[in-house]
Amino acid sequence: MTANNRLVLSSDHSAIDLRQAIAEHIATRGWTVVDIGPTTSESTDYPTHGEAAARRVVSGDCRFGIILCGTGQGIMMTANKITGIRCGVCADTFSARMIRQHNDANMLSIGARIVGHGLALDIVDAFLNAEFESGRHLKRVQMIQALER
Ligand code: RB5
Repeated sequence: MTANNRLVLSSDHSAIDLRQAIAEHIATRGWTVVDIGPTTSESTDYPTHGEAAARRVVSGDCRFGIILCGTGQGIMMTANKITGIRCGVCADTFSARMIRQHNDANMLSIGARIVGHGLALDIVDAFLNAEFESGRHLKRVQMIQALER
């Protein structure tokens, strides 16, 4: 784990319960959870929460971000609009591991209406336990970064 063990969590209204389960799960794994809400299941707009979480990551306040909406797609699209964010939607552990190892993803998105709680926690573990392999993958990540300039 890096020196910054802070991880930001956010979601829209569709994922309040799963977000809480993920918060409890990763807190037992040594992460300081920065849960920025929302706290009620009142309908809300996923771009608001995706942007807020992404800004915590690009500012350096948090090492990683985990974001959730119904499909995981809308909030992921939002996060990836913020320069410096590489976020993937994952519904399987292989993808969650690979977006760290090959893509140096700094955010993970999960669809709360797609993935059950047990699998979601395994996806989170796969993401957080993997390291960027660098090597030939570094050039490719740098090619992504070049598109941001
Ligand atoms: C909200 O109904 C839903 O559209 C949202 O959670 C998400 O699935 C969008 O991508």
